[in-house]
Amino acid sequence: MCGIVGYVGPQQAQSIILNGLKQLEYRGYDSAGLALLEQNGKIAVRRDAGKLANLQEMVKAAPIEGHIGIGHTRWATHGQPSQRNAHPHVSMNGRVVLVHNGIVENYAELREELLAEGIIFNSDTDSEVIVQMAERFIEAGYDFEHAVRESLQRLMGSNAVVVMNVDSPDRIICARLGNAGGIALGIGKGEMFLASDIPAILEYTRDMIFLENRQIATITQNGYQVTDLEGNPVETDIQNIPWDPISAVKGEYKHFMQKEIFEQPQSMINTLHSRVDFERGRLSIPDLNLTPELARRLKRLFIIACGTSYYAGLIGKYMIEEIARLPVEVEYGSEFRYYNPIVDEHSAVLAITQSGETADTLAASELARNHGATMWSIVNVIGSQSMRISDGYIAMQAGPEIGVASTKAFTTSLVDLYMLACVLGEARGIVSGESYRRLVNALARIPDLAGRVLDHDQEYQELANLFFKAQNFLFIGRGINYPVALEGALKLKEISYIHAEGYPAGEMKHGPIALIDESMPVLAVVTKDALYDKMVSQIEQARARGGIVIALATEGDQTIRQKADHVIYVPASPPLLAPIVNVIPLQLLSYHIAVRRGCDVDQPRNLAKSVTVE
Ligand code: AGP
Repeated sequence: MCGIVGYVGPQQAQSIILNGLKQLEYRGYDSAGLALLEQNGKIAVRRDAGKLANLQEMVKAAPIEGHIGIGHTRWATHGQPSQRNAHPHVSMNGRVVLVHNGIVENYAELREELLAEGIIFNSDTDSEVIVQMAERFIEAGYDFEHAVRESLQRLMGSNAVVVMNVDSPDRIICARLGNAGGIALGIGKGEMFLASDIPAILEYTRDMIFLENRQIATITQNGYQVTDLEGNPVETDIQNIPWDPISAVKGEYKHFMQKEIFEQPQSMINTLHSRVDFERGRLSIPDLNLTPELARRLKRLFIIACGTSYYAGLIGKYMIEEIARLPVEVEYGSEFRYYNPIVDEHSAVLAITQSGETADTLAASELARNHGATMWSIVNVIGSQSMRISDGYIAMQAGPEIGVASTKAFTTSLVDLYMLACVLGEARGIVSGESYRRLVNALARIPDLAGRVLDHDQEYQELANLFFKAQNFLFIGRGINYPVALEGALKLKEISYIHAEGYPAGEMKHGPIALIDESMPVLAVVTKDALYDKMVSQIEQARARGGIVIALATEGDQTIRQKADHVIYVPASPPLLAPIVNVIPLQLLSYHIAVRRGCDVDQPRNLAKSVTVE
């Protein structure tokens, strides 16, 4: 989950690297650093523990001249967050410098081997074994590229590696092993960029190449060459990234999360764009590659994801089973990857992943492919590993999601899941004609309904002022709104650090109701649907035990006012699309509570935006 940036070209590298790291700070931030090859052929390093601001101060006090450099923001896996363990790491004799993302699973063995050869280590990180090995091969007579290839072939685990060498001052070598964070090469005019994530270099170029697993690239200001680990050149395709650089900055918002919550109507429109024809009531998702033969062959769909994306999958199960009558199993990527799933050519596996780089989801996807399943993904980051390994995909088209807490990617993926349910339902002959047209046209109002919810932001802020001191919170819902309760709880806990649990409302009487008292606020998702009456009785049970209930209800529902202590109203929406609208007040409530508590909303403690390690 670390952030990596590199540059080689006629410009001063320092400012380009710092600017890029700023765009990536959300990915990981225990420490930060950069290294340049100076004109005098030496490696100059600046690095420090803590936020990127510490590095910026350090560089301001002691700037570095140079046209080639690499930078890093770190989310610690091995070795405490400290100046000593901050990247970049320099080899013992000062010839090679490295930044790294991922985990060297056999680093202890490699470290022992190098220590036995007299290598002196300067850090407690796994990363350092790579740079020490590379220097050892160079000093044994290998050229730079060969030395790096030899070193990488010794590594086990998923790793993204970027190195420079004082004897080859015109080039940077980078490599991707396994599903660790990807590396994007940015192709400029007479200059080259590299980054672990698109926003870091998007303002300089939209033309990018994404390294695949076990590929190595050498970049110079004149261009690039990509090979496999054995040094054989490989074909690469240049992708043009449609995102605009402006969308990767906060603008008038206080936090990226706030901006991305308010971008949701637009991101829903973006994901519908060019796929839906409301005039004719038609949908088309060409990138999915759903053929009639495949539609006939499918007997089961597995949805694999993590965190918020997993909750989107739980909602997608209701949509797809209801509309397409296709059995759906939803599983955490971290679980699916370790069991022996009953997956075959009659199965499709759908990975839902904003980053497209989540290690558990990627590993589960690889397992499914190896069992012969068709591999689909709903993914936001263009060129990400999930997008590349899929037989078909639905690009969320939500634009960069920078805040660690996922918001617009969640609701956009729900729109995509609904579209998937419709195209599957039609291809399997379950829905057609007028009923199909009605399903498709139900999407037309969703962005507008989301916008109407956002208009009530002030209400959620006032509610946050009443509850920001809570130590615990319960979110309950039923049916398709049960995953909404789970997502509401996750949003609150991950940015405000309040312990929050989501629960199926019908389960309250089987234990959790013992928790209810005036210090345990209960947020009940009780919008009008077939389970409304059941939800109302759950609310009454909670209040009978002194619980404070916040009801999220449908506009016009006066009954609920007598049942709950506080009511948040949302506009009526079709039951299968209701989660898209119902989740927005929960996002804003969590956001305002976290702000009121003075939490770091965009960079919550211990978290990173893309979990590229196990
Ligand atoms: C959500 O707010 C969290 N940041 C986290 O649960 C996230 O959804 C999860 O890590 C999956 O990420 P992905 O969608 O990029 O795979």
